Amino acid sequence: MIKVGVLGARGRMGSEVCRAAGAAADMEVTAAVDVGDPRDPLGECDVVVDFTHPGAVMDNLRWCIASGRNVVVGTSGFDDARLATAGEWLGQAPDVRVLIAPNFSVGAVLMMHFAAQSAEVIELHHAAKADAPSGTASRTASLISAARSAAGLGPSPDATVTAVDGARGAVLNGVHVHSVRLSGLVAHQEVLLGGHGEVLTLRHDSLDRASFMPGVLLGIRGVASLPAGLTFGLDSLLGVD
Ligand SMILES: NC(=O)c1ccc[n+]([C@@H]2O[C@H](COP(=O)([O-])OP(=O)(O)OC[C@H]3O[C@@H](n4cnc5c(N)ncnc54)[C@H](O)[C@@H]3O)[C@@H](O)[C@H]2O)c1
Repeated sequence: MIKVGVLGARGRMGSEVCRAAGAAADMEVTAAVDVGDPRDPLGECDVVVDFTHPGAVMDNLRWCIASGRNVVVGTSGFDDARLATAGEWLGQAPDVRVLIAPNFSVGAVLMMHFAAQSAEVIELHHAAKADAPSGTASRTASLISAARSAAGLGPSPDATVTAVDGARGAVLNGVHVHSVRLSGLVAHQEVLLGGHGEVLTLRHDSLDRASFMPGVLLGIRGVASLPAGLTFGLDSLLGVD
């Protein structure tokens, strides 16, 4: 049995993880921790899953690494600086594995792969999301940027001379990312590829938080088999890297 601890256990994602891991034959949820609860019970777990808040996740991650726990992180907000900090902490804990994935939905991972040639990203989320753009959109932008550089291409053509602030979205690694926040949405993303007289649109929709659970369970089962240190993205566990 894999002993699973959940941080953010009373949140939208954390409660779904408690349900999914609790129903898995090879897992038991031995610690469900949210704001105000002691973290100590997590010290007995094989894997700790974090779906909390961008403002809380680094402190949780440092605590878990110092406690020698393997960690699966779904919380958003991981830029290069945060990943580097996590890597430094892991340098002091050679037996710990950390998997950080901007998106645990299998469909979204595939969309990011197919999106590498695209030009602009539109991400759409529920109105209670704390950060913009989404971690998925940031990751997609960096994949698009890397693919454009590898192909010897600069930024996409754009003749805009005057623009209202924000009208062209946020620019991440030279890629324009537009964020929509609307009640009724869960997590959605479109990537657009423009050609001569044509546009290809890839769209992924997470219609229910259950869509993330197969990926989270794959992360819980697979994190101990990953190379020591930090793994970013679910791709290697899905065999699509
Ligand atoms: N990687 C993915 O596939 C994926 C999918 C959906 C959401 N997310 C991300 O997961 C995070 C959580 O999303 P949500 O919709 O469940 O949010 P939520 O607000 O519903 O839940 C977050 C929970 O974390 C708790 N929390 C905050 N600080 C904490 C701390 N220090 N210790 C313990 N618990 C703490 C809150 O009380 C709350 O219950 C967000 O960053 C979101 O963007 C990632």
